[in-house]
Amino acid sequence: MSNQTEILEAALPADSAATAAWAWVAVRTLGPQHRSHMLTHLTALGDFDRSLRFGQLATDEQIRAYVERIDFERDQAFGIFDRRLQLAAMAHLAFEPVLGESEPTAEFGVSVLERWRRRGYGARLFDHAVTHARNRGVRNLLIHIARENSAMLAIVRRAGAEVQFDGAEATAQLPLPQDTLATQIEELVGHQAAELDYRFKRHVLRLDKLREVCLLSPLVRP
Ligand SMILES: CC(C)(COP(=O)(O)OP(=O)(O)OC[C@H]1O[C@@H](n2cnc3c(N)ncnc32)[C@H](O)[C@@H]1OP(=O)(O)O)[C@@H](O)C(=O)NCCC(=O)NCCS
Repeated sequence: MSNQTEILEAALPADSAATAAWAWVAVRTLGPQHRSHMLTHLTALGDFDRSLRFGQLATDEQIRAYVERIDFERDQAFGIFDRRLQLAAMAHLAFEPVLGESEPTAEFGVSVLERWRRRGYGARLFDHAVTHARNRGVRNLLIHIARENSAMLAIVRRAGAEVQFDGAEATAQLPLPQDTLATQIEELVGHQAAELDYRFKRHVLRLDKLREVCLLSPLVRP
């Protein structure tokens, strides 16, 4: 599996329903060691996508400050890595403080790099966040969406969220059922499988690099 494989994969028809329907996608939990990956991912978003993701045209500096501020003790971040271990997609689940009688609530934000869109990654990260939030006792998921963001609206509506529009903005609220043994096991197994997937990709990447070095070395040239 080389860089050529990755390029060929990215060139496959992006909206192939079959891809999304059957392919298992590894979702990895992100930590402070992934801040630089997150920064690279988020600053690769174009102006329009930055407005959709952050509700404003965030500058590189604002994105850097946002990434630095993520509190990995309190919140959760998830990502889908490509074969070169770059973040193709990432999501942030921010847990809100429980005040008085308020229901435990978390806010969800997501982004998928353009070349990886329409493969089900956005929906996959949303489903993953729902399971994780349920397992942490969250009862309400909140998502701020721009009115014109058809893809995000499709994702939350498919999950059964109630969407309220206010001018150019929409707020989606998804009540979450309690966790079950199945949701706990699903998260645990998914986590371990994603770790294995990451190690495998790292191994393949190292072999790729080694092969490149060998091909460049005059000692191994025919
Ligand atoms: C929104 C976003 C995350 C969607 O990611 P994605 O991986 O392309 O989405 P998926 O492939 O999982 O598709 C999810 C649904 O949206 C639909 N969809 C995807 N792109 C679409 C588009 N451009 N127009 C209309 N519908 C679209 C898909 O058909 C699918 O619908 P279905 O469940 O009814 O089949 C991505 O477009 C993005 O990163 N946008 C910029 C940042 C952003 O808007 N973030 C959301 C704010 S929280």
